[in-house]
Amino acid sequence: MNDIQVEVPQETTEYAIKIQKGLLQNVGEELSAITSSRRVAVVTDKNVHQHYGETVDTQLKRAGFTVHFIILEPGEQTKTFSSMPAMYSELINAGITRSDVIVALGGGVVGDIAGFVAATFLRGIDFVQIPTSLLAQVDSSVGGKVGVDLPEGKNLAGAFYHPKLVIIDPDVLNTLSDHYFSDGMAEVIKYGCIKDASFFDKLTQLNSREKVMAEIENVIETCCKIKQDMVQQDEKDKGIRMLLNFGHTLGHAIEAYYNYESITHGHAVAIGMVTLTAIAEEKGLTEKGTAEKVRRCLSGHNLPAELDEPEAYDFILSYIKKDKKQLNNQLHVVIIETIGQAATYKTGIGFFDQLTTGGQIT
Ligand SMILES: NC(=O)c1ccc[n+]([C@@H]2O[C@H](COP(=O)([O-])OP(=O)(O)OC[C@H]3O[C@@H](n4cnc5c(N)ncnc54)[C@H](O)[C@@H]3O)[C@@H](O)[C@H]2O)c1
Ligand SMILES: [Zn+2]
Repeated sequence: MNDIQVEVPQETTEYAIKIQKGLLQNVGEELSAITSSRRVAVVTDKNVHQHYGETVDTQLKRAGFTVHFIILEPGEQTKTFSSMPAMYSELINAGITRSDVIVALGGGVVGDIAGFVAATFLRGIDFVQIPTSLLAQVDSSVGGKVGVDLPEGKNLAGAFYHPKLVIIDPDVLNTLSDHYFSDGMAEVIKYGCIKDASFFDKLTQLNSREKVMAEIENVIETCCKIKQDMVQQDEKDKGIRMLLNFGHTLGHAIEAYYNYESITHGHAVAIGMVTLTAIAEEKGLTEKGTAEKVRRCLSGHNLPAELDEPEAYDFILSYIKKDKKQLNNQLHVVIIETIGQAATYKTGIGFFDQLTTGGQIT
């Protein structure tokens, strides 16, 4: 018998990221341009619904859509596999079919779970991202990673599934808390660190929320372009896309140690970027003075540079070790050689040893 060769036609995925103040007022027209369906399910959370539910509902209805809202509890604890069956039921009861659209209106939690539901409901239906947190506008809504947490860990079930359109209205950031604005700024600063020194310098100068908001469209566009470029070169995260993980090995472990509650993602990544860069400087991998530059930029945006409880590193490093086992005892850390230039560095868990000797890195 001969083998039967199955050739799957390569699908090229193309979609627009639209960034414009006030764009939420045009959501009906924007959606009409990418679908012929007139039925839409909007997945959101209670906070975002309270601020923007009515606008989106009105605009979509005005464009002739039948709108069904699925309103989730805010917070990471919602982004779990166990939330999904109820969402599928709501979609079925609302009469959503394969030709209809799911809109994710919210932060990264809503975008990730709504995207995964869209990827799997009826084997995949169109979805549109309307990110409303800064983190979601510069990071999670771009790149097609969708998914949920399992009891065993974060983001363990998911897919690569791209939206048909990303609608970014920077005006919605006005209702975001200072804490989550700073959280998103950590990712913004990360892009400067890994890819763009002049953007980094600008962010050091724009040292308040007001100053950032005065240039917010440019800031978001710069971040989305850097991410888009890396995703285009490496969609499945096996090469250059890994550079986006700068500060994240430590950051994820810190978040896990604090149960994803008292320290949120951006704050943990901020500590991760400075701590890792200080270690890399001592090892001669990074230009001297770089950690201090990163620390100064972060502090202008109310972001921490070190852990309040350095003794917690004993536990935090054991978390990284657990992760490391899956990688054949090797650890790939992303370092910056200087501001704007990132590289991956193959090492072992010993890289972080000085953190457990009780010493803060200075
Ligand atoms: N898919 C990816 O590539 C990717 C990348 C980075 C992070 N993530 C995921 O993103 C999640 C974190 O996202 P997040 O920080 O946006 O958290 P989030 O979605 O929990 O939003 C943060 C808080 O802000 C509120 N909020 C959002 N927009 C608002 C607005 N405009 N006005 C008032 N309140 C608003 C939310 O209700 C929530 O309480 C994590 O689950 C993380 O794993 C995914
Ligand atoms: Zn991140």
